[in-house]
Amino acid sequence: MSAEREPIGVIGTGYVGLVTAAGFAEVGNDVWCIDIDADKIGRLEAGEIPIWEPGLKELVAANRERLHFSTDIGDALAHARLLFVAVGTPPTYSGDADLSAVYSVVDAMPASDDHALVMKSTVPCGTGAHIQRRFAETGKAGFCYVSCPEFLKEGSAVADFLDPDRVVVGDDGDWAGQAVVDLYAPLDAPLVRTDIRSAEMTKLASNAFLATKISFINEIANVCDETGADVVEVARGMGLDPRIGPKFLQAGIGFGGSCFPKDVTALKQMAGNTGYHFQLLNAVIEVNELQKRRVVQKLQKHLGPLTQKKIALLGLAFKPNTDDMREASSLVLSARLLADGAAISVYDPVAEEEARKLIPGVTFAESALAAVAGADAVVLVTEWSEFGELDFAAVAGAMDGRLVVDGRNFLDPVAVRGAGLLYEGIGRPSPRRVS
Ligand SMILES: NC(=O)c1ccc[n+]([C@@H]2O[C@H](COP(=O)([O-])OP(=O)(O)OC[C@H]3O[C@@H](n4cnc5c(N)ncnc54)[C@H](O)[C@@H]3O)[C@@H](O)[C@H]2O)c1
Repeated sequence: MSAEREPIGVIGTGYVGLVTAAGFAEVGNDVWCIDIDADKIGRLEAGEIPIWEPGLKELVAANRERLHFSTDIGDALAHARLLFVAVGTPPTYSGDADLSAVYSVVDAMPASDDHALVMKSTVPCGTGAHIQRRFAETGKAGFCYVSCPEFLKEGSAVADFLDPDRVVVGDDGDWAGQAVVDLYAPLDAPLVRTDIRSAEMTKLASNAFLATKISFINEIANVCDETGADVVEVARGMGLDPRIGPKFLQAGIGFGGSCFPKDVTALKQMAGNTGYHFQLLNAVIEVNELQKRRVVQKLQKHLGPLTQKKIALLGLAFKPNTDDMREASSLVLSARLLADGAAISVYDPVAEEEARKLIPGVTFAESALAAVAGADAVVLVTEWSEFGELDFAAVAGAMDGRLVVDGRNFLDPVAVRGAGLLYEGIGRPSPRRVS
């Protein structure tokens, strides 16, 4: 199979780059994986996977012969004509996307009529046009450009790559766009072939819409807290309407991660730069910021001032099945609790190594039960499946206090209350007796 499949390059071997590389290797492409992080490349060459992503280790191992790792971009240029760019585009202080890594790749390209950059990184609308201008101004007008935004989700990235909802290819109708379409053909996914700007905008609009859905249900949850309705029941009733759908209607302590916060802010900022005030996104961002702090209010409601109170946080990663701590709600929550003088013990099944770099002043426990020992209150921050199987009688026995704040509406309130604990969800007031 690999004989007919063309070799490709992937520049940036992080969450997106490594999954993309392993995924294309799985369908038969030889892939030259490039990163400026020599340590990361060394670990990959040694068969070590630097990130925690279900199924990735196995996929890389199964396709090891087709995966080539290097810090030299020349290796990718020598072997492949399509160079996928999957470098980070983090936010700057202004909220705009930081495109310095993208442009360092662009500027490292030689003049060529036989190569194309294929942008996987999430970039503002207009970036492709700017890169094409830059190529033209520097005598590299023959270098093609394709926008191919990535929609995979951490935690299910391998499955998302191999069975995508859609593949979006934005191009100028040249050989490169068609070559990218051909590359994705074995995945048999719905294809949206469009212009470059529309492809760039599709990615930003998708993430902004999902973030809006989360902030919307979080505001409904906050109203439920005031009115006695249960947001889980409300979301169930809403989600059965096919125009609404059940996904992204889980109320909680807000969205985090490396994509939603930065992409929503980048879209807002990008619109602002063009003179358009994107009012809705201001609210989406503000609701999300406030939502992370609602847990603190719930703790104070039951415990009073938090000074010297012992709080256990279960889960630290921004969502389950990843070790990614970027923009995790646990960062804001732990900082707020420490500022209030609380003592914090934490447990996460896989994110501890990353979390230790970012959360000073907390005690890392080796298990959920060890974290809750002596706690006045427990906060579920990340809905790892193992927390759904906790023995709440044992939790109650280990804690000093009784309060369990379920920041993801993930636990079974009946099981928690059945163990003599006080359950507080997000938008899930105590059941009222129907008389
Ligand atoms: N993480 C996700 O779930 C996700 C999903 C869809 C899209 N995206 C987008 O994909 C892009 C990459 O995200 P990520 O989470 O994989 O980032 P990441 O930080 O995990 O990986 C980026 C990699 O690029 C490398 N790099 C930086 N500059 C480089 C250069 N000049 N040459 C070669 N390598 C370089 C870094 O060392 C790092 O290994 C971002 O634009 C992000 O918004 C991410």
